[in-house]
Amino acid sequence: MPVERTLSLIKPDGVERNLIGQVLSFFEKGGLKIVAMKMLHLTKAQAEEFYIVHKERPFYQELTEYMASGPIVAIVLEGENAIAKCREIMGATDPAEAAEGTIRKTFALSKGENTVHGSDSPESAAREIAFFFSELEICPRS
Ligand code: TYD
Repeated sequence: MPVERTLSLIKPDGVERNLIGQVLSFFEKGGLKIVAMKMLHLTKAQAEEFYIVHKERPFYQELTEYMASGPIVAIVLEGENAIAKCREIMGATDPAEAAEGTIRKTFALSKGENTVHGSDSPESAAREIAFFFSELEICPRS
């Protein structure tokens, strides 16, 4: 299995409800290592840039307004198969469809306010990690 890095975000609903520590525990217990982390509050323009691939989707405005509505935590996770593993630990986009024991099943409020983000491919992981972090801010642990 290749060692990969992926970008996760704890979204505004997770920070607001004091779930940072619990979300990090899901990732750590799932075998992923935190190799970079920061808290920040995106502007609307930054949220639009981050989610640019969804520009034509009907939920784009609502999604980007929500992502700019409060502080978030950006995290780089490292480990074998980290991209798929992170998404497995998060669960399906809609908490109603997420498997038991996943972050979204446990905490998400709705399809939009779903507590976490995780990159969906090696290409998006590379782009999304570079969106938030320079190489100097990442501490390899493998
Ligand atoms: P998507 O990339 O499809 O899901 P995931 O985060 O599981 O990779 O969508 C990105 C985000 O857009 C999703 O986390 C929440 C929001 N979204 C909605 O608000 N409504 C929707 O119908 C969908 C599909 C997504």
